[in-house]
Amino acid sequence: MHPLINIATMAARAAGGNIMHHYARIDQLNIEQKGKNDYVSEVDKEAENTIIKTIQKYYPEHAILAEESGIKKAKKTKYGLSEVEWIIDPLDGTTNFLHQFPQFCVSIAIKEKGKLTHAVIFDPVRDEMFTASRGRGAFLNNQRMRISQQKTLDNALLATGFPYHDFSYLDSYMASLKAFMTSTAGVRRAGSAALDLAYVACGRVDGYWEFNLKPWDIAAGALLVQEAGGLATDFRGGEDYLTSGNILVANPKLYKEMAQTLAKTIPTELRT
Ligand code: IPD
Ligand code: CA
Ligand code: CA
Repeated sequence: MHPLINIATMAARAAGGNIMHHYARIDQLNIEQKGKNDYVSEVDKEAENTIIKTIQKYYPEHAILAEESGIKKAKKTKYGLSEVEWIIDPLDGTTNFLHQFPQFCVSIAIKEKGKLTHAVIFDPVRDEMFTASRGRGAFLNNQRMRISQQKTLDNALLATGFPYHDFSYLDSYMASLKAFMTSTAGVRRAGSAALDLAYVACGRVDGYWEFNLKPWDIAAGALLVQEAGGLATDFRGGEDYLTSGNILVANPKLYKEMAQTLAKTIPTELRT
């Protein structure tokens, strides 16, 4: 196992421990509202601290982008400025967690020289550890995983995320949802973007699309999908999904059909 994956899985497991410790005692938590339908609990912060402490114990020079605490710049060493950046969502699916709906995870990605190189997503409810390293494949609990071979939309099961705080592009989203609802075997909205991506990577769902996400929601999951044999792009078919926040993933055959559907339902100016 690559040393960075080793540290990332250790950090994800420890954060998963924090999360499950509080899962049965949700009513005792302090919860703050960051914005409309956007909550953060002391668990998100505790899990994030656990991850950051673990990283900094081994790699104090690395840069970090974490959902709750923001950016920590890379530090200089005798070899120069570190080019490694960790991207962390300590608890993806906070709304589910706060309702004791068992679909949430820890998501940790690593970028080197601006390229995603390692990914870890940990589901502490099912004890499922999804990992990938660029060029080395993707794994679920150390077993190689592959994307589904579903070739056509009519038999496909898709995942998505509904807009929930910024409704400015709701009409376009609803048009794409309507098109997929009427042309597939079904669409699921389970409430954790990172797990949605991990589920595409291991073939539980065949494709996934969502608008307006943050880099920590999708960085690890996008690499899992690519290393499992799938495509991950923004809505123009480009690689800017971490900046645009719009992402489409599927196996190459199904991807084509999904991209055509999005092209028909989303106005060009929103296709970023
Ligand atoms: C959210 C989840 C959700 C997605 C939202 C994300 P959070 O992350 O991934 O599935 O639809 O856009 O913000 O806030 O629970 O970390
Ligand atoms: Ca998230
Ligand atoms: Ca989160």
